[in-house]
Amino acid sequence: MHGAFSYLEIGSHLGGSLQALVRDPACDAIASIDARPTWMPDEGGITIAYPDNSSARMLRLLGDLPGASLGKIRTFDVSTTQLSPVDLGLVPSLCFVDGEHTDEAALRDARFCRAAMPDSGCIAFHDAAIVYRGIAQFLRELDAEAVAYSAYFLPATVFVIEFPQAKLRDVEGVTSLILENYRGYLFSLQSNDRYREFFNHWVFREWRTLQRRLLKGRLERWAARETAEKLGQTTGSASAMTHPTQD
Ligand SMILES: C[S@@+](CC[C@H](N)C(=O)[O-])C[C@H]1O[C@@H](n2cnc3c(N)ncnc32)[C@H](O)[C@@H]1O
Repeated sequence: MHGAFSYLEIGSHLGGSLQALVRDPACDAIASIDARPTWMPDEGGITIAYPDNSSARMLRLLGDLPGASLGKIRTFDVSTTQLSPVDLGLVPSLCFVDGEHTDEAALRDARFCRAAMPDSGCIAFHDAAIVYRGIAQFLRELDAEAVAYSAYFLPATVFVIEFPQAKLRDVEGVTSLILENYRGYLFSLQSNDRYREFFNHWVFREWRTLQRRLLKGRLERWAARETAEKLGQTTGSASAMTHPTQD
């Protein structure tokens, strides 16, 4: 349906998400951008270790796959801030954003993808439940420019934005996954459950109860003051009215 295509991936690590592409004859060129840090910040509040993180290791592992064609991969051991889309030497039809898991990086990488294939093709974000704010900002930017796109979610964690000519969602396998995306919705909520657990820890529940009590006390004191002031005014004006007759 789509013929030959080029693929851009930001964040490749060991090459897990490249495995299908290196073996797919329809994929004629691959650009893999990975800054290869030893540690990576994550919007989930943790720092993830990437020991021995290298493109050489990734290529070695991918080379073990039967039918893998490594000649079509170009690796860039930098972040998208250090690269221009023309450096890629290809115009991708499909981009996969799975680099640094922060909103800022996801947004930056999405903008890079868009610059690499101006408003055509398809951008897929992995771990959308983590970088959703970056994705939301990217959509706001498209909306502000009145760019046509469609967006959908694929289980379990992939958020897809495609520009009209991509028509990926009409491919049978993709359409059936879209119909299954309720699973991804639940998976995403469950993957963020630990924040709910944290917020509902007994210490914080007790803290909220204390806050409510303190607030209630302040409101009651304020109401009592207001009433006293009003009563004072009423008594004052009543005595002002009777004053002349008293003289
Ligand atoms: C979650 S892993 C990618 C997993 C890979 N897509 C897979 O399916 O196996 C994240 C990768 O992003 C890379 N990374 C971290 N910060 C980056 C940045 N600023 N730019 C590009 N890549 C980055 C890390 O080196 C790591 O290899």
